[in-house]
Formats: sequence, C-alpha cells, structure tokens
Amino acid sequence: MRARADLVLRDIGQLLTMDGSGASGMGLVNNAVLCVKDGKVLWAGPAGELDSQVTVSDTTEFVSAGGGVVTPGFVDSHTHPIFGATRQEEFAMRAAGADYREIAAAGGGILNSVRKTRAASEDVLENNMKHHLAIMLSGGTTTVEVKSGYGLDLETELRCLEVAGRVAEEVPQTIVPTFMGAHEVPEEFAGKPDEYIDHLIDVVNPAVKKQGIAEFVDIFCEKGVFTPEQAERYLSASAKQGFSLKIHADEFFDTGGTAVAVRTGAVSADHLLSISDDNISLIADSSTVATLLPGTALFLNKPFPPGRKLLDAGATVAVATDFNPGSCFCDSMPLVVSLAVCQCGFTVEEALVSSTVNGAAALGLSERKGRIVSGYDADFVVWNCDDFRTIPYHLGNPDVAVVYCAGLKVYST
Ligand code: NIG
Ligand code: FE
Repeated sequence: MRARADLVLRDIGQLLTMDGSGASGMGLVNNAVLCVKDGKVLWAGPAGELDSQVTVSDTTEFVSAGGGVVTPGFVDSHTHPIFGATRQEEFAMRAAGADYREIAAAGGGILNSVRKTRAASEDVLENNMKHHLAIMLSGGTTTVEVKSGYGLDLETELRCLEVAGRVAEEVPQTIVPTFMGAHEVPEEFAGKPDEYIDHLIDVVNPAVKKQGIAEFVDIFCEKGVFTPEQAERYLSASAKQGFSLKIHADEFFDTGGTAVAVRTGAVSADHLLSISDDNISLIADSSTVATLLPGTALFLNKPFPPGRKLLDAGATVAVATDFNPGSCFCDSMPLVVSLAVCQCGFTVEEALVSSTVNGAAALGLSERKGRIVSGYDADFVVWNCDDFRTIPYHLGNPDVAVVYCAGLKVYST
C-alpha cells in the first residue's frame, strides 16, 4: 500500500538527491516533488510519478518550491563552536604580518581560547554556540559536528560537552559532539605531551565516555603539538574505549597524520593542506574520508588543500568550515563550497556532493543524512535560484529561501 505524505513539496525545478546517479553522483531530477512523512523523506522523484508513489489526504500540506533548486541540507562535519571569546586581536596581528604559529608560540592561539573558555560561564558558552548555529542554519547547514577542546582540563571539557548536549536539544539542526581534549598541550602539562596523553587516556576519556555526549575524539597532530606517535597512541586507546576517531592531520607540515588516520581506522582525516602524494594514495585506498577546510587556508593565507589530486586519486572527499575563533572564523558552508570550486579544483557537482553526502560519511551518518532519498532524514534547503550551479557561483551571499530539518520549516528569508 502506498504511504500517505504529511508534506508534499512541489514545483521543484531541480532536485539534487545525491543518490549516486548522474554526474558525480549528484542525482539531478528536473521538475520534481519531495514527500515527507514523520520527519523522513517518504519519496522524492519526477512530478509525473507522484500519484503512483504516495497518497495524500486532507491533512497533507502542499508547499511550492517556486521552481527553485532543492538540495539536502549541508553537513558541516568539522567545527569548534564552543569557546569563551573571539580572537579578532590575533586576526589583526596576522594582518600586520605575524604568522599563526608564531602567535600560538607567544601565548596566543588555542591556549588563549583555553584561558577565556575556562573563565566563561555556561551561559556565555551556550550563547556563543547558539549564535553561530543560527547563522549556519541561515546558510543551509542542517547537521553540525561540534568539537570541545578549548577547556583542556577535565572540568571544563565536560562543561563544554554538557553545553553542546543541551544546545543540541534546543536547536533544529542535528549536532554531533566530538571530544577534543587533545587539541593542544595545556599549560599544566607544558613540555610533557606524553604525560598529557596518558592523563587523557586514563582519566579524561573515561569520564567523557561516562558522560555519554561525545561520539568522536579528535587530536591535533602537528609539529609542536602532538607527534604522529602520540596521535596513534591516543587514537588506538580511544578506539578501544569505544570512541569513533578523527584527526587534524598534515595541516601546516607533512607530519604523517594521514597515515595514522588510515592505520587507526579514523572516520576522517581533516585539513590536509600539506598532505604528501604518497598519503594521497594511502587515504584514497582506505575508508577514511579526506575532509578539506578551504576556509582555513583562505583565513590564514596558506596554500589551498589539493582537492583535485585527492578526487582524481579516488578519495572520498568532504568539505567543511572548521569554524573556530582562531584559524577560521567562518560559519558559511556556501562560501566553503565556492572555495572548493574556485580554489581547490572541484567541479560544481563534486563540491555539492562533498558538502552533503560526503560530510555525512565523515560523521558515520551515511545511512541517514546528506541525501534526499526514501528513509533519510528530511533535512533540505529550498534555494531561491533555478540552476544548481548558482549555489557556488553566488560568492558570499547564499540564495537560501527555506530550510527544513526533519520535515519542519525552521528558517526562511
Ligand atoms: O582546526 N588546527 C587546530 N585547531 C583549529 C584551530 C583552533 C584555534 O586556533 O583556536 C583548527 O584550525
Ligand atoms: Fe579544526
């Protein structure tokens, strides 16, 4: 028997299902309809097939997309939105010639955020996070991974994750929390990164697991932060404790973090500005998603990540914002999609796939998010344009008309 739709979105000029068909798997359907039931996609396809696929009743709501484009909501699989204060003073220092790593070595950088986050009230943390999640929603982002990592002590890290868990209940988006106690070596452990890793494994990770909010752990593998050996030790132990794994890898230097990601079975390796050709082949032959964060390269004036090379090698490539107060104060997935096309060698279709279905893969959510196909969460964006290529073409001002999360209209212009 055909199921009854709660909502029928019709007059869709172009529907991007991301079902794996067509150019880059984007699944373009012209003149389409999207039906929702109980917050899930009931059916989506050509308008002419509606009657044979679903039934409607007096209570079915009919909405017109006005001939516009409809895409899955963006999946931003890498953000750091739980912080006590912004760092525009460092932005100005960089503009005057200082380097990101010099600023960090002089007591700025992540440890600057740590001091401010430890001192911040829960209200401040919560309001900062909600403010940016609201901006993300207005750009069409319906799933957001959020990392802790500006506390770096047990109490503050648990408080940040607690805030993330509470905010997750209150915002329309799906939130995926990650514990990033290994974001930097805190002042209490200065010069003793191995002891800090031991402390994380023995004390903090178990407490985070008991709290039950974080699904992933993440570590910053970088010259002057954690070595590949420390990252591998931490990630291997975390996997045994039941966490899924992520790693900040090969960002400023080719330290081999990508190889650690592949060896430990990490769900994603992120940044990769400096990834070697060998490690491009390695990640392409693995199940680890290569997550590129071109906003960070733009913000820090670094070379853009080698998107084309990774795509040509056959890697699963996601793009995300890396929204954070230091190295990328950018919460816009539409801008990141434009950067992927304009600076990293993606086609328009590849950039849209990378920001939706591949973002879902980077969060282990391939069965639920990032596609508009039957059974998936009904998270989608109605665009105020009739050609999907306009999405990255319109640089800096997204043509978002309406955003739906779980079948409910949660934002409109
Ligand atoms: O992903 N690379 C490490 N962590 C962040 C930067 C955080 C900060 O500067 O506060 C990033 O870019
Ligand atoms: Fe990051």
